[in-house]
Amino acid sequence: MKEVDTLPFEVSQLLEAVYFRYGYDFRHYARESIERRIVYRVEHSELDNVSQMIGKVMHDPDYFNLFLNDMSVTVTEMFRDPLVFKKIRNQLLLQLKTYSRINIWHAGCSTGEEVYAMAIMLEEEGLLERCQLYATDFNNHSLAVAKEGIYSLQHMSKYQKSYKKSGGTKKLADYYHTKHEHIKFDQGLRQHITFANHNLVKDREFAQMHLVMCRNVLIYFDHKLQQLALNLFKSSLVNRGYLILGREETLGSANMHVAFESIDAKYRIYRCVANV
Ligand SMILES: C[S@@+](CC[C@H](N)C(=O)[O-])C[C@H]1O[C@@H](n2cnc3c(N)ncnc32)[C@H](O)[C@@H]1O
Repeated sequence: MKEVDTLPFEVSQLLEAVYFRYGYDFRHYARESIERRIVYRVEHSELDNVSQMIGKVMHDPDYFNLFLNDMSVTVTEMFRDPLVFKKIRNQLLLQLKTYSRINIWHAGCSTGEEVYAMAIMLEEEGLLERCQLYATDFNNHSLAVAKEGIYSLQHMSKYQKSYKKSGGTKKLADYYHTKHEHIKFDQGLRQHITFANHNLVKDREFAQMHLVMCRNVLIYFDHKLQQLALNLFKSSLVNRGYLILGREETLGSANMHVAFESIDAKYRIYRCVANV
């Protein structure tokens, strides 16, 4: 009999099972990368194939948590793409300054480095006092790290360079305390940040946002899911509120090009236009 590649079918069944059992919907994540990660887990679980993984995920919540972690790529850093932060500092904040209260949502914040970078920049521009930052992710392990605000000292020299490139005027070390091989960001920054579990696939919008940053998350979604998330951002933003996507991410449909105007194509900065 002809050899058939059963992997796509088995992966679909696994994702249906996960959705049925736990309510997490990965059916519209970009297939290639999700298959790669599932195969990796099979190979590291002493299982022969994805079908065997279905039973294990269904009946063993600890194993499901492992699966959930695999599904979430948590790579992040402070002042990632520093010139995007420079644009925010020199251009977007001029508009945001006109609001008496500024709401910013970091969707898919992972372990939080990006939101602390934003808080530092807002502090330097004299705006942090009137800002409320929301940092959300569906991965509770990452959120726990983000809430603590404790990071390895080893990364700080790289982050200091990115901070400078982003227009930072001080030293990053002015914002944290060092203990042994770790640093902890100051409470003054953390008190303006609310960390929360939020799943872009199934949870609701955040109201009255002036800026939404969702970088390097939509690349893991298929087109349908990307449009769902973009609609969520649109209904979360005030009129003329900003949306910033990652380097590899775009609006992707004519509808979204009506809903958002491009402010800077290179840096993926968009502005929400009047409700359409
Ligand atoms: C590569 S990190 C990006 C972190 C940060 N935004 C950056 O650009 O450095 C992607 C994050 O998206 C999160 N994520 C993936 N799917 C999600 C979903 N459906 N809802 C919320 N967060 C999600 C992952 O858990 C992960 O922390």
